[in-house]
Amino acid sequence: MISKPQKNKLINAALKVIKNSHSPHSGFKVGSALLSSKGKIYSGTNVEFDAFTLTVCAERSALFNAISGGEKKYLAIAVATSSKEFIYPCGLCRQALVEFNPNLEVILITKDKKTKSFILKDIIPNYFKLNTV
Ligand code: THU
Repeated sequence: MISKPQKNKLINAALKVIKNSHSPHSGFKVGSALLSSKGKIYSGTNVEFDAFTLTVCAERSALFNAISGGEKKYLAIAVATSSKEFIYPCGLCRQALVEFNPNLEVILITKDKKTKSFILKDIIPNYFKLNTV
C-alpha cells in the first residue's frame, strides 16, 4: 500500500487532469494518475474522436505517458470520473495495467471525491498471459 501523502498526491493529480478530458461524445470525464516506483506521477485523460473506435481511456492514456517517460514499474493508479457512483476500469485497461503489475493499487474517485481502493488482480482473475511454449 502506498503512503497516505502519496495517495493524496495521486488523487489530486487525477482530479487535476480530469479537467482536460476530451469527451464531446459521451460527456463522461475521466482523469487518471499513475505512480511510478521512482515516485513520479504520470497523468492521462480520456480522448474521444468522431470516429468512435479511436477513443482512448484515461487509464491507458496515463500508461502511455508513463511508458513514453521511460518508466515501466508502477505502484498505484488513481482514477477520477464525473460520476457519483464508483466506476471501475474497463476490461481493456485492466488487461493493459495487469501486464505491468498485478498488485497495482487502484484508487477510484467519484465526483463527490469519495474514494475506494483495491488491488488490480482482484478485478481481473485469470487474466491473459502470453505463453509461447
Ligand atoms: N473511459 C475511461 O476513460 N476509462 C474507463 O475505464 C472506462 C471508460 C472513457 C472512455 C470514453 O471516453 C468514456 O469513458 C465513455 O465510455
